[in-house]
Formats: sequence, structure tokens, C-alpha cells
Amino acid sequence: MGLDRAASIDDLRLRAKNRIPRFAFDLVDGGAESERNMRRNTEAFEEVELTPRYMVDVSNIDISATVFGQTFDAPLGMAPIGMLNAFWPGADLTLAQLCKAKNIPYTASSASSTTLEELAEAADGNGWFQLYVSRDPTVTEGLIARAEAAGYTTLMVTADVPAAGKRDRDIRNQLAVPFRFTPEVILQCAMNPRWALTSLKHGKPNVANYADLLQSATSYADVQKTLITPGFTWEDLKRLRTRWKGRLLVKGILHAQDALSCTELGCDGIIVSNHGGRQVAFGPPTIEALPSIAEAVAGRMTIILDSGIRRGADILRAKALGADFALAGRAFAYGVGAGGNAGAQHAFEILQLELIRALGQLGIPSYETIGASELSTFKATTSSDQSSIQLDYP
Ligand SMILES: Cc1cc2nc3c(=O)[nH]c(=O)nc-3n(C[C@H](O)[C@H](O)[C@H](O)COP(=O)(O)O)c2cc1C
Repeated sequence: MGLDRAASIDDLRLRAKNRIPRFAFDLVDGGAESERNMRRNTEAFEEVELTPRYMVDVSNIDISATVFGQTFDAPLGMAPIGMLNAFWPGADLTLAQLCKAKNIPYTASSASSTTLEELAEAADGNGWFQLYVSRDPTVTEGLIARAEAAGYTTLMVTADVPAAGKRDRDIRNQLAVPFRFTPEVILQCAMNPRWALTSLKHGKPNVANYADLLQSATSYADVQKTLITPGFTWEDLKRLRTRWKGRLLVKGILHAQDALSCTELGCDGIIVSNHGGRQVAFGPPTIEALPSIAEAVAGRMTIILDSGIRRGADILRAKALGADFALAGRAFAYGVGAGGNAGAQHAFEILQLELIRALGQLGIPSYETIGASELSTFKATTSSDQSSIQLDYP
């Protein structure tokens, strides 16, 4: 299927699947164990219905959204993804540049395959930095100091990886970082020559922010062990709150009590996330976890949701249930995998146009006017916003 015929994020996923060796595709596409949680993320969105209201003037639709004092052109940003260049060479920079061009936030992962400094430059004011708290405090402090020096003002600390997720596909594929060129991997690469040649040009991807650690470690397993810690507690978050002077967001919140604790510690926002179903197979989909969290903390901090966003309407479903903003991980990754820069742009435009269309069909001219109580009876207001977008359909 040509890129121009890809009508949905699922179409982009299929196209990416046909262009990328299986071991690399599965690295992004896979979830924890049975993958139940990953599947439920998308299924649960489908179950949330929004009731249209008609005879409202929706000639102008405004999808801009303001969070943390910055107005973005869409209520959607890029979630942090580690080692993404293994999926498609150069993907990190492609997506950071896309986010800048489209004026949406880009989150650089601690485990990115491009340095946080290069990504800060590419995202140019639209960059957030995601922090994995390391077992070694000097490693954590090193990343924080670098993020500060690179100009990031928003730090997103990930709470939901006390242990690495068990991803059965990666085990079956005998995935190792850096990659080992087993006969099976070589065969898969030979069947995907474009990916193989582009990868050769870019060199082996690695966790670029940990270059020093990689040099001194005896094995990659040692490095991996250092990257995260099972010992990250509320006391550490408190210390982090004191240490980081900018905005502090906590990613991976699924329980209302945890959300409340984040508010009490003075965090600026949370990401209601289950890591795209990559951590636990038995947990709830985020759209189901959201309402009780919103009830507990709405208005006291910014609520962002990710995990399973595949349609523009999913962003509205999340907004209707109490989220202010959304992030997508795989949707953007599939776009790059399906067609590099053009594919990334296509992924964004699919979600953007679906979102505009859905707002028009619901009779809501402005994203920001949707409230948690308006799930089935939206009230529309007219928007005179200059940045609004003209609808091209009846
Ligand atoms: C391949 C891959 C790598 C990821 N790496 C990170 C990471 O380094 N840090 C992090 O906080 N979340 C990471 N995530 C989780 C994403 O930030 C996000 O929560 C998830 O992708 C959202 O679900 P979605 O892919 O269905 O949109 C990763 C997700 C994927 C698919």
C-alpha cells in the first residue's frame, strides 16, 4: 500500500510492518506478556461513545490547546520512546523536527538513540525530557544537569518501570542491545533492503545518553540494570521536586491515590499511562483509569493521557473523561516506519484531520470547550480564534 493510500494509523502500521525486519518491528509493536493490556487500551477507547449535537456552526474548528502556559497547535504530543532508531533509522530526529514544525510537544526519552542535547535543538522550545531514575544517583543527577543545560524546562519522570516489562516477542526474537547479527537477523534484514541500507548508513543504534556508562560497563546487561531502579519511592520524588526547578510531570499514573500524592508533592502534571501496555498485561486501560483520577485531581494539576491513541476521536474521548492533553507513541512511530519524514507527517495529519472532523461532527467548534461532564451532551460555543481551521466538508 502506498503512503498516500494509508487512511488510518492502522494502515501506517501495516505498511511499516512490511518495510521493517520482524525483530525491529516487534520491538515497538509488542506489549507485555499476553499483550492483553495493549489490546485493551485500544478496545476500551472504542467503547466510549460521544453523542453528536447538530445545527451548531462548525465552520471554524479550533484544536489548539494550552498546557503549562504554552499554546500548541493540537492537543497531542509525542510520547518518549527509547531506542526508536532501531525501528527506523533517524526516527528520533525526524519526530523532534516534526513536532517543532507542527507546534506540538516532543518528549525526548532518557533511553533515546539520539542525545538529549541534539533532540533539544531539533525540538527547539517544544521539547520535554523524560527521566528514568537510575539505580546510581550520579547517573540520574548527570541526566538532570544535562537536561537543564540543554534548556528543557519540563521534566517527565517515569514511575511505571520498577522492573523492566516482560515482552514475549523480544524474548522469542532473541533481541539483544546492541544488536547481534544472528543468521535469522541477517535474513530478516536481507528481506527488508531499504531498512538495512538506511540502518547501515546511520550505524548501530544505542542508548545515546548513556555513552559513558556503555564505555565503562562490562556488559550491556549491567547498563540496563543501572538505567532503572526498583527503589524509586515517594521520598525520591519529593527530592526530585526540590532539585528540579522547572515543571515536573509524573508519567505512568493509574491510581487516583497516586495522582493525589503527586498533587500534594507539588508536581505540575501527570501522564495517565500504562506505558502502551508494555509493562503489565493485567492492568487497566488508561481510558478506564482516567475518570477516578480526574475526579480526584482535576483542576489541581494538568492531566495528560497516553496509551492506545490511534484515532483523532480518542483524544476527544480522553478530553471528555477529564484529560487536558494526550500523547501518542506508536502512532508516530508507525508513521516514520511507513515512510520516514513523509510518513511521520502523514501520521500527524491523519490524527489532526480525524480530530477536526470529529469535533465538527459532534458540533463542537473548539477542543478546549469540552468538559468532563459533557460526554454525551456537548454544548458548543462559537470560536473567533484566529488560528482556527476551515472545514472542507459539508
Ligand atoms: C518502543 C517503545 C519504547 C518506549 N520507551 C519509553 C521510554 O523510554 N520512556 C518512557 O517513559 N516510556 C516509553 N515508552 C512508553 C511511551 O512513552 C508511551 O507511554 C506509550 O507508547 C503510549 O502508548 P501508545 O504507543 O499506544 O501510544 C515506550 C513505548 C514504546 C512503544
